[in-house]
Amino acid sequence: MNVTSIKGFRDVLPDEAARRRAILDATRGVLESYGYAEIELPLLEKGELFQRSVGATSDIVEKEMYAFEDRDGTLIALRPEGTASAVRAYVENGLTRSLPVGRLWYSGPMFRRERPQKGRYRQFSQIGAEFFGRDDAAADAETLCLVADICAAVGVRGTRIDLNSLGDAACRPAYREALSEYGRLHASELCTDCCARLERNPLRLLDCKNPGCKAAMSAAPLMIDHLCDPCRAHHDEVLRLLGVAGVAVTANPRMVRGLDYYCRTAFEVVAEGLGAQDAVGGGGRYDGLVAALGGPDMAGIGFAFGLERLDLASRPDGDDLGVAAAAVKILMAPVGEAAAGPALALARRLRQTGLRVEMESPGRRLKAQMKHADKIGARFVVILGDAEIASGRATVRDMRAQLDHASLFGLADDATAIVTKLEQIGQFEQR
Ligand code: HAM
Repeated sequence: MNVTSIKGFRDVLPDEAARRRAILDATRGVLESYGYAEIELPLLEKGELFQRSVGATSDIVEKEMYAFEDRDGTLIALRPEGTASAVRAYVENGLTRSLPVGRLWYSGPMFRRERPQKGRYRQFSQIGAEFFGRDDAAADAETLCLVADICAAVGVRGTRIDLNSLGDAACRPAYREALSEYGRLHASELCTDCCARLERNPLRLLDCKNPGCKAAMSAAPLMIDHLCDPCRAHHDEVLRLLGVAGVAVTANPRMVRGLDYYCRTAFEVVAEGLGAQDAVGGGGRYDGLVAALGGPDMAGIGFAFGLERLDLASRPDGDDLGVAAAAVKILMAPVGEAAAGPALALARRLRQTGLRVEMESPGRRLKAQMKHADKIGARFVVILGDAEIASGRATVRDMRAQLDHASLFGLADDATAIVTKLEQIGQFEQR
């Protein structure tokens, strides 16, 4: 029996890895243009961190977290998200004092034991950003500008930003009560999960995908109609600023988030063509969280994109062979054991000029090596057979012109002089 991977844990093959790298590079560029600095956070945290932030009654903590007891009895969790860790790090490292208005970003794997399907995995990667120390509407608007600019830079197709306000500690408790009151009246129409949510986490009633629950909740009260004056003013100002900045958002008064730390602004970025798991990113404001994790009373707002979903929503159509390597410009073709050493040494020197050089096997016939050069799309093949080793000069095949150049350069020639010779026989980009 073969040992296979664990359900929901997938391999990222070279084609996808290359696209992920490009997405990460594009995203990093936009984040840095907004003044965000990178932070690296641990994969393991104390379980308590997520209980106190994401919420002990949230699905993520209650049902999906990979948690276990460490050898010393501490409850440890594989991080299901990055915000809690970022806030912990911000407080623990004294950044609340040294960087009272701070913009941090991170990326890496997260773990949630959800039911795997297209775009939903048990290990997935996020690119996240957190903006600390500002509670004004301009910070929310700036964050949404950043979200829109990342989508554009990555080339996500058909995005829509759904926006809602979840109120705050002043207005949400009364709304929560009104919502569970409504839910209780419709309890007989709700699924068992929603019945359990009624008292513990009623906001999630709005989020259930079950058609019966959807119908039952269609006339439920909405947070947006129950905002207190300051929350209403904040929300209106966010909308006004987004209009001025030219960022289009869609009001979605039924959108709630799966994490409990949010207040006021909450948003989700959905992309077309992704099926059921169409949220490529999500985020919102979390003004009480820094204090809840032992820091000062400090505001925060942020978001995270799912890297797998960004890839699904931006990749070109067509087959994914999963094997494309970085474009190799030169195939080093040693024919016979005597050529192996000189070929290795020459290939190394050429790579130092920045060229991509792949070395063939000295045991293979030249014809087979040439076939491989065709397959990988090499621009030139440097042939080192017995004659070349004897004369100390290489033969180069220009693959585009299908022409051999005998004795083109000496094996001991300076590497940059060799590159110049190659440029003379045929145009090529080095990278
Ligand atoms: P989230 O909405 O739970 O928010 O996750 C953000 C994104 O991660 C989702 O929109 C989705 O693209 C991706 N994602 C989540 N779960 C999975 C999964 N099982 N498989 C594949 N992709 C997934 C957060 O995690 C918050 N920490 C965002 C945030 C930052 N809020 C404030 N700051």
